[in-house]
Amino acid sequence: MPPRPAAAAVVLAGGSGVRVGQGRNKAYLPVGGRTVVTTSLRAMATLPGLRRLVLVVRGDDVALAERTFASEFADPPVPVELVLGGVTRHGSEERALRHLAPAIRAGSVDVVLIHDAARPLCSPELVAALVQAAAEHGGAVPGLPADDLAAFGADGTVVPLAGRHIRVQTPQAFAARPLLDAYERAVGTGFDGTDTAACVERFSSLQVRFVPGEPQNFKITYPSDVGLADQFLRTGRPAPRRRPRQP
Ligand code: CTP
Ligand code: MG
Repeated sequence: MPPRPAAAAVVLAGGSGVRVGQGRNKAYLPVGGRTVVTTSLRAMATLPGLRRLVLVVRGDDVALAERTFASEFADPPVPVELVLGGVTRHGSEERALRHLAPAIRAGSVDVVLIHDAARPLCSPELVAALVQAAAEHGGAVPGLPADDLAAFGADGTVVPLAGRHIRVQTPQAFAARPLLDAYERAVGTGFDGTDTAACVERFSSLQVRFVPGEPQNFKITYPSDVGLADQFLRTGRPAPRRRPRQP
């Protein structure tokens, strides 16, 4: 049995949730009797060996975040540390990593998990599997096989896709020091990836492994996703297959 890695988890709630269309950050909407963000934090907090738990928030949400944890997550295994987010998701990740940098450099954090608050339904088993895979290989991302993808060329013709494809989820887990180095190298380049793996692939030589994701671990993006997440949490029934979306 390999030693248990010392892990830090970062939950990103620094966005605005514009596409959900509720006029407020979707991270604070209720699903299954608790907010989306608390449900995501609790999922990260199941990890054995968790040393640090960081929540990235918008400046406007700080008071709301503090009130929310006081009532929904009064006894976390480690304190929830609030960090102000950036303009983009990448910028929010960078700020969280800068916050963790002293511990990473001191060697007290081996693996960092980065998770979208907007995916409240990932299981403890998935969180643990990702951390183990990252400790072993350098990086790990969850994904679901995608058998309905196509590509098109410059002239608009459909071209065959080679290889097997996945739709990538979060949390994504990486060896802490190379992850921090990758985000430091990205500073000033204008790089803005859609997920953590994109920055790692561009600015590090870490090997990133695929770990089977979970159908219920979808991202709350559109209005109907809120009801699906709520239903899953209340009934335990998997959400219906959401993709491909009908035109
Ligand atoms: N996020 C963040 N900081 C940002 C932008 C996004 O921490 N500047 C977080 C969101 O809070 C979310 C995750 O990244 O948990 C995934 O982003 P997305 O689904 O795009 O959320 P929002 O940006 O909040 O939603 P929208 O794009 O519809 O406004
Ligand atoms: Mg967004």
